[in-house]
Formats: sequence, structure tokens, C-alpha cells
Amino acid sequence: MHLQDKVAVVTGAASGMGKSIAELYAKEGAKVIVSDLNFEGAKVVADGINESGGIATAVKTNVADLNDINTMIDTAVSEYGTLDILVNNAGIMDNMAPIGDVDDQKWDLIFDVNTKGVMRAIRKAIPIFLEKGKGVIVNIASTGGFSGAHAGAAYTASKHAVVGITKNTGFMYAQKGIRCNAIAPGATMTNIGSTMANVDEFGALRTKVTQGVIPRVGQPEEIAKVALFLASDESSFVNGAVIAADAGWTAGF
Ligand SMILES: NC(=O)c1ccc[n+]([C@@H]2O[C@H](COP(=O)([O-])OP(=O)(O)OC[C@H]3O[C@@H](n4cnc5c(N)ncnc54)[C@H](O)[C@@H]3O)[C@@H](O)[C@H]2O)c1
Repeated sequence: MHLQDKVAVVTGAASGMGKSIAELYAKEGAKVIVSDLNFEGAKVVADGINESGGIATAVKTNVADLNDINTMIDTAVSEYGTLDILVNNAGIMDNMAPIGDVDDQKWDLIFDVNTKGVMRAIRKAIPIFLEKGKGVIVNIASTGGFSGAHAGAAYTASKHAVVGITKNTGFMYAQKGIRCNAIAPGATMTNIGSTMANVDEFGALRTKVTQGVIPRVGQPEEIAKVALFLASDESSFVNGAVIAADAGWTAGF
């Protein structure tokens, strides 16, 4: 087992990649805080882990809310004594709008969830990691974190910012035993499509140019395996990196 007795927090763990990551981490011996805005969904995942011999606790967290973020990390410490691994996975799509059609409210929501939530969770975890002299952060960015052609302006900018946070955090704490890496998944079979409403026709049509060359759609379990590698000591020399998991989609351009 690669994560024996480690304590992990996974945000957005009621569905998709977060659910797969929480389940795989638990299978590998970690005690997992299954955090999500959807508490019922998080509870189903945590119950499933506990029923199959793992250890997990569901926590209701809106990553856009500072108090919720603090409670999430505090719960890891109060339930399991510490924090070793933080996975910032919760995220929402925009409506593919190019910047000429961006709505301020939507922009703020996407940044609050996809970017500010990541900053706040890391900020809360850092003192724990510094005290231990050890800690791992895995951010779920996106191929939209380095390509301008995969979503609208708000999502693309929010994920570029996650890449920036990842590199800066990896660099800043490189000599403190803390590693911070990101995964940039390509199109993956999850429920994220349900967060898209009033899709912008022009923006969506433009993204079709690159969607046409997607080699295949991934499964959340394939992203979880990369997240396991990044959380474990197997990746001890990997820090500040962004690993694309996209079947080669972005390798060609
Ligand atoms: N699916 C893809 O093709 C794809 C590609 C690249 C990156 N991503 C990224 O992967 C991550 C996981 O998404 P997914 O595809 O598994 O989607 P998903 O919708 O299946 O799961 C996301 C989870 O996040 C939760 N969530 C949403 N808003 C939240 C909030 N404010 N606070 C806490 N939890 C919240 C949802 O309830 C849901 O359980 C996201 O950051 C997304 O941007 C997805």
C-alpha cells in the first residue's frame, strides 16, 4: 500500500475524479476526508469506503467559503490527528463564453471555486505541513490550464491560475519537504457537463476545432492513478510540475 496511515483531504469527492481519487487513496491505506458541496453524495462515497474496509469521513464543504475550507482541514486534524495530502479537485465549468461575452457574476463564481478555493485550502494546510516538515498537494488543473482552446475565458483563466499557484507553491516550499504538483486532465467522463448552462454558441463552436482531435475520452480512475503517484513517495523528486493526462491530446500542438 502506497499511502498507509496517511491522512488525505479530497475536495469535490462526491463525483467524478474526486470520488475515484478518494476511493483509490483509501484502498492504498489513507484515511480520507471526502469533502463536497453535495454532502449526500460525499456520504455515499465515504460510506462505500468504510463498508469496504477503508476509513473515510464525509464533510460538507463549499470551497468558495472560507469557513468551510477551514472546517474541512480542521476536521482532518480532529478526526485523524494530522494532514498529509491535500487534493484540490472541486471545480466547475464555465459556459464556453469568450471574453467579449463574460458575465461578471459567473466569472467571480468560477474563480471563487476553481482558484480562490485552491489558494485558501493550501494556505490553511501549509502551517501543518511546515510543522511536520512534510506534505503533499495535488491540484486538479486542466488542459485548459495551458491551452486557450478548451473552454471559455473564465474557466481557462481560472485553471491557468491554478497552474501558477502550483508552480509558485512547489518552488517556495521546495526546501521545506512540501511538494505541490498538478494534473491537467483532458476530456474525462464525469458529471462536470451538468455545471454548464446557457452555453455560448460562438465559444463552444470555436472549441470544437480542438475537440475534434481528442484521441479518446478518459475515465476518472485513470486520473486517480496519476493522483496516487503524485501523493505517494514514488514521485519524491516531482515538484511544481503539471502532468497532462489526456491520451496525447495536447502533445500534438
Ligand atoms: N471532466 C473533465 O473533462 C475535466 C477535464 C479537465 C479538468 N477537470 C477538472 O477536474 C475536476 C473534477 O471535476 P469532474 O470532472 O470530476 O466533475 P464532477 O462534476 O463529476 O465532480 C466535481 C465535484 O465537485 C463538487 N463541487 C462543485 N462545486 C463545488 C464547491 N463550490 N465546493 C465543493 N465541491 C464542489 C461537485 O458537487 C462534484 O461532486 C475539476 O476541477 C475540473 O475542472 C475536468
